[in-house]
Amino acid sequence: MTQLVPVRKPTDLILDRIASDLKNGKLVVFPTETVYGLGANAFNAKAVRRVFWAKCRPADNPLIVHISEKKQLKKLVKAITPTAKKLIAKFWPGPLTLLFFKSKRIPSVVTAGLHTVAIRMPSHPIAHALIQKAVVPIAAPSANTAGKPSVTRASHAFEDLFGKVSWIIDSGPATAGIESTILDITQSPPVLLRPGAVSKEKIEKVIGKIAVHSVVANPKTVSKKLIAVAPGMKYRHYAPNAAVWMVSPQKLAQIAKQQSKKKPVAVLSLKMVRSKKILSFRFSSIKEMAAELFHCFRLCDEAGIKLVLVEAVSEKGIGLALSNRVKKAATKIVD
Ligand code: TXA
Ligand code: MG
Repeated sequence: MTQLVPVRKPTDLILDRIASDLKNGKLVVFPTETVYGLGANAFNAKAVRRVFWAKCRPADNPLIVHISEKKQLKKLVKAITPTAKKLIAKFWPGPLTLLFFKSKRIPSVVTAGLHTVAIRMPSHPIAHALIQKAVVPIAAPSANTAGKPSVTRASHAFEDLFGKVSWIIDSGPATAGIESTILDITQSPPVLLRPGAVSKEKIEKVIGKIAVHSVVANPKTVSKKLIAVAPGMKYRHYAPNAAVWMVSPQKLAQIAKQQSKKKPVAVLSLKMVRSKKILSFRFSSIKEMAAELFHCFRLCDEAGIKLVLVEAVSEKGIGLALSNRVKKAATKIVD
């Protein structure tokens, strides 16, 4: 049975019951400031295996471990370097995931056999209260079926995971709407594995220049070396059933018009593309477009759209994360 419960305040009593179930091996969908997570007790290998099963996730794609207090970190990792200390002081709690060499306490199923573990401390008050009450770290991927867009509303998790999890906590739409930034600080210079809500520019202000992994749109072109560094990168992500094209602002209106003669088309853009035939989503900023991207992908599928055209944006700040997600979902890029 799956129970969907609204939780608005960290003091809601139902959280005690949910946290206790989580500690005892049950699966729980919970809100974070980025996207909803599908959580299990990170120390319980059996529960973690069920997370992979519930979202049909390949076992070679590791999970992020979520903590509620900085002091929990020490037991989970081999060492906390000066670079890690600076980043933690500046960005935790918040949407920055850091890679550390793992300690023996973390079962290998969590990290897909890797020697590194990804750890983050969410700033969402309900996530914080849940992890604190569970008293254990929570291993959690995004709460979508593998390959589908990440979950920014509890109702999306219900669509994907009904019958497979014990609880779905509904705390309203996720604010960032895009997953955390992932930074590998086991390498020097540190490597940005996934851009997210904490921008590259903000990180570089704190620790200096970092390296960036380029986006790999086609899994067949991924090298073995890349898979070893960032296993998640070999999978196509975030995609709706509809085809997705990333299109330059100059060509958007023209391509939308042409394509809408042949099939149902939606456009996600900063400027208005007018046509009776087109389902048009217009955003007032890149930040808003990032926050709504996954929700819009799901709305497009519900509306029977066959082609989603997304306006290409500047890759500064949150624009880099948005562009990364669109490229990973895209079947074609039109410059
Ligand atoms: O915002 C977020 O990060 C959300 C919320 C729920 O916290 N979580 C999330 O998890 O996006 P997931 O599993 O959907 O994405 C985590 C990514 C995957 O691509 C995975 O391959 C990568 O992190 N990852 C996890 N552990 C890793 C490791 N040890 N080395 C390299 N990549 C790792
Ligand atoms: Mg995910």
